[in-house]
Amino acid sequence: MLLGSIQPFDPYVRSTNGGVPQISLLRSGIRFNLNYIELVHYRLYLPDDFASLYAIEELCFERPFRFGRRYMRELIESPTSTTWIAAEDDAMTGFAIVDCLTDKNRTAAYIQTIEVAPAYRQRGIASELLNRLESSGRAAGATMIWLHVDAHNESAIRLYQSRAYRQSGRREHYYARNRAAEIYVKALNSEIAE
Ligand SMILES: CC(C)(COP(=O)(O)OP(=O)(O)OC[C@H]1O[C@@H](n2cnc3c(N)ncnc32)[C@H](O)[C@@H]1OP(=O)(O)O)[C@@H](O)C(=O)NCCC(=O)NCCS
Repeated sequence: MLLGSIQPFDPYVRSTNGGVPQISLLRSGIRFNLNYIELVHYRLYLPDDFASLYAIEELCFERPFRFGRRYMRELIESPTSTTWIAAEDDAMTGFAIVDCLTDKNRTAAYIQTIEVAPAYRQRGIASELLNRLESSGRAAGATMIWLHVDAHNESAIRLYQSRAYRQSGRREHYYARNRAAEIYVKALNSEIAE
């Protein structure tokens, strides 16, 4: 985004374009101050990543809602899934898994999970991971992407809504008794359909 396009009351502007460093500018009065330069990069999962990835799972979810190690490995190693990693310097900051399944000539992408370590939240990492999942879905020929989210998970629901995901259903007792899931869906027809 060009600086000239910043509107007067924008609290911040961020640019997330793949492996290019992200720059956030915080507005102070009428002057722009370079607040910080984040060096987050995004890449595909490598086998050595598992311990760091699972440490994030343990930070993000309590038992019994957390995926078990064996199940997590199965998700990652499935031939239909793609796992994206967010990292800053040597530290893994987040990850996300998408599974693309074809049924009757129609491919749909399903978000298995998206997780950012607490210390790195509110910086746009999940939004960029979502970009990557959607791109992987499109590359696999998916025309839609969908997910389950805990009906009480307000931050995740805000993330999906802000990225044009629409609620399309609800499953009671999905995660546990009285713990419902909402189903969110987004069309993946083209890059423009964001
Ligand atoms: C839900 C979750 C993935 C969001 O991760 P995140 O990296 O914090 O998400 P983002 O930074 O992209 O967006 C979160 C908020 O930060 C804001 N934000 C983004 N960049 C920002 C920046 N540079 N400065 C300030 N705020 C920023 C976004 O606008 C958004 O605001 P909102 O919540 O008021 O709408 C994270 O909270 C998490 O891992 N939760 C636990 C696991 C989980 O529940 N996963 C969902 C499974 S369905």
